[in-house]
Order: sequence, then structure tokens, then C-alpha cells
Amino acid sequence: MGLFDSLCRRYQSLFRAAHPEEADLVELHSTGQTEQFLAAYFAHEYRKGGDVVERFTALAPGWHGGRALDFGCGAGGLTYRIAAHAREAVGIDIEQYKLDFAAAQAERLNVPNARFVCSASAALPFADDSFDCVFCIDVVEHLPTPEKFVAEFRRVLRPGGQLLLSFGPPWGHAHGKHMWAKLPGWWTHLLFPRRAVMRAAGFPPHTTWEELGIHRLTVGRFERVMRRSGFRVEYRRLLINKAVAPLRFVPLLRELFIAEVVGVYRKPTEGTA
Ligand SMILES: C[S@@+](CC[C@H](N)C(=O)[O-])C[C@H]1O[C@@H](n2cnc3c(N)ncnc32)[C@H](O)[C@@H]1O
Repeated sequence: MGLFDSLCRRYQSLFRAAHPEEADLVELHSTGQTEQFLAAYFAHEYRKGGDVVERFTALAPGWHGGRALDFGCGAGGLTYRIAAHAREAVGIDIEQYKLDFAAAQAERLNVPNARFVCSASAALPFADDSFDCVFCIDVVEHLPTPEKFVAEFRRVLRPGGQLLLSFGPPWGHAHGKHMWAKLPGWWTHLLFPRRAVMRAAGFPPHTTWEELGIHRLTVGRFERVMRRSGFRVEYRRLLINKAVAPLRFVPLLRELFIAEVVGVYRKPTEGTA
């Protein structure tokens, strides 16, 4: 074991594992208890989905009653929450086993207007202008080419339709590595060489972040994508710990502290920019 491995492990040992719920999910997933994992994952998404719907209803109540796309829907917890306020909710994800679980919940929840589609392509399998709103919650940082997907959100939205998006933590944040259970330490991914970090997390040392579905999305890169997207910004919030709130305005430094990005974006109607 090299010097960095031992330093990285010692550093991790200074932090207590937070997020017991995440630790349970990781354990169920890694030990192959798929049904139990999916049930716990769905329950987590469904609880969180209630908060997401409440948040975006306060920010953009106009999305109610329309046809909604839930991009990166996982096991469908949020999709069912959306369906309660939509004419139809369509969940899309790349993982068929999660979608099978999602579809099987319709009867239990008595929600007939949610359906699920599996697609791994950056070209969404939907017609132009066919949705009133698109939800993209905690997914954009897992996309290799966020700009292509954002362009697709714009294509499938009707003119005047809204993209409701949040993600976090961005790559520069203390938890930008997204491994609360395996790597509870702050900024471990920026402080140590990747090989040492991967070993400390229990992965083969050559594992890349991209192989783990982490595409290192910063706030700056995300904002550039949105500026070039042709969407109009209706609401944007950068969540940051109160103790360091003024750093939100300091380029580069802000990347270390912004925990979440929340935005409401509108597809312009004909003739508006
Ligand atoms: C962190 S989960 C978020 C799930 C859900 N949106 C929520 O907030 O509870 C990210 C989801 O995005 C999905 N995903 C990743 N890349 C995707 C892609 N290219 N197209 C559709 N879904 C994708 C993953 O399979 C996973 O279910």
C-alpha cells in the first residue's frame, strides 16, 4: 500500500459515516438483495419525490395538469408523485430492472396515469413539442454529455413548456464524489490521487469516476450548458452553507461550497428569445 493510500484511509477515518439510509442501500445493492434494494430505493425516492414536487409547485405551479416527463426516474418514486398532479407522467431511465419495479407499483398506489420507458440514447424516444414539463432531478451530473440531453429536453417540450431541474452536490463540493457511505470525508476526491481514493472506497484502483457514473459536473460547466441551450432562466438558486454564503459570488472558490443547483427554465414560444 502506498503513502497516498494510507493517508487517504487515515483521512477517511477522521469522519463518521453519515447518511445511514445510503449505507443501507449500498449494502443491499452490493450483496445482490435486489428486491429489498428496490423496495428501499423506491421508498427513499417516494419520500424525496414528495419534497421535490412541493418545491417545484411553489416555484412553478403552472406545471400541474400537463403531460410530464421524469428524466432519470430510477424506480419511479418521483414519477408517481408527479402523476398525482399531471395528466400523464412518463418516467424514463437506462436501467430496465428499476423500471420493472416502478411499473409494478401502479396498482398498489392506484395511479393509472404513470408509464415507464427504457432508453439509453441521448436521442429521447418522444416527438417534438410533446411534453408540458420535464423534471430532471439529481440526474444531470450523471450524464456524459449534459448539453445533448438538455437540447433534447428543449426539443420534446412544447413552446412555453418548463424544465424543472436540480442536482447536487456538484463536483467541487466536499461530497461531489457522491459516496457518503463509502467515502464520508470532505473533498477526498480532490485531495488525493484517484487511485488511492478508489482503493479506499473498495473499488479497483484503475476505476474512473465516469465508470461510477460521476461525470464531474461543476456549477460553471452546468451554467455554460444552460446559457447555450436556448432556454430562458425563470428561477435559479445555488444552495450554500450559511457560514460561507458570500463565497457564492467568488468564481472558482464557490465551486467548493455550492451543495445544490435548482433551476426553472422555459422553452421560448415562437418569436421570443
Ligand atoms: C441519482 S438517480 C436519481 C433518481 C430520481 N430522479 C430521483 O431523484 O430520485 C439517477 C438516475 O438517472 C439514471 N440515468 C443515468 N443516465 C441516464 C440516461 N442517460 N438516461 C436516463 N436515465 C439515466 C440512473 O439510472 C438513475 O436511475
